[in-house]
Formats: sequence, structure tokens, C-alpha cells
Amino acid sequence: MFPVCHIEDLPVGASVRIRIDDTTPAIAVFHTEDGLYAVDDTCSHQDASLSEGWVEGCFVECPLHAALFDLRTGAPTCLPARRPVRTHEVGVLDGTVHVRPAVREGAVA
Ligand code: FES
Repeated sequence: MFPVCHIEDLPVGASVRIRIDDTTPAIAVFHTEDGLYAVDDTCSHQDASLSEGWVEGCFVECPLHAALFDLRTGAPTCLPARRPVRTHEVGVLDGTVHVRPAVREGAVA
């Protein structure tokens, strides 16, 4: 698990974009009224940062073309996005938000 920030620095309604290293795609972490979620930051449609999108419940709307993604599954619920974004494990340990990036297909563990 990789530390992201103190939970106090990510209040409900806030999101943050993190990059763990140069080989791992950026991850967007959201603190919603329903809890914490982490998904790939880049929209599966084009190059937009989901961390800059609008969150309602456990959904985020892409800021570029308004595709809506379910933060629980990463699945798009409307066009123009057709492919899901990956979800990542997220939790709080000793007051710090942590993310465990999902293993990418084809990556060597
Ligand atoms: S870039 Fe996200 S919907 Fe087009």
C-alpha cells in the first residue's frame, strides 16, 4: 500500500491525483459521501483527468465529454466512454489514506 495523504487533507467531496512512479498510470482518489474510491485517473475515452471531474454519490463525471463512471466498479454508465477504468484498493491506516494499485495486465509482479 502506498501512502497518499492524511485523511484530514482529503475531506468528503475532495479528490486527488497521485502518481506512484514513472511506470504506473496516475490514480485518482476520491472521498465521497459513500467512502473512499480509487480509479485510474485517465478517462478511458480520451486524455482527461477524472480527478478533475464532478462527483455525485459514487459516480464521477469526466470533465471533457461527460462520460459517467461508477467508482465502485470503474464501469462507464454512458457514452462516449465504452471501456472501464481500473479500480484500486484504498483504505485508511493510522489516519493516512493508502492505495494499492491494481496489477496491470502484462505487468511482471
Ligand atoms: S475524455 Fe472522458 S468522456 Fe471523453
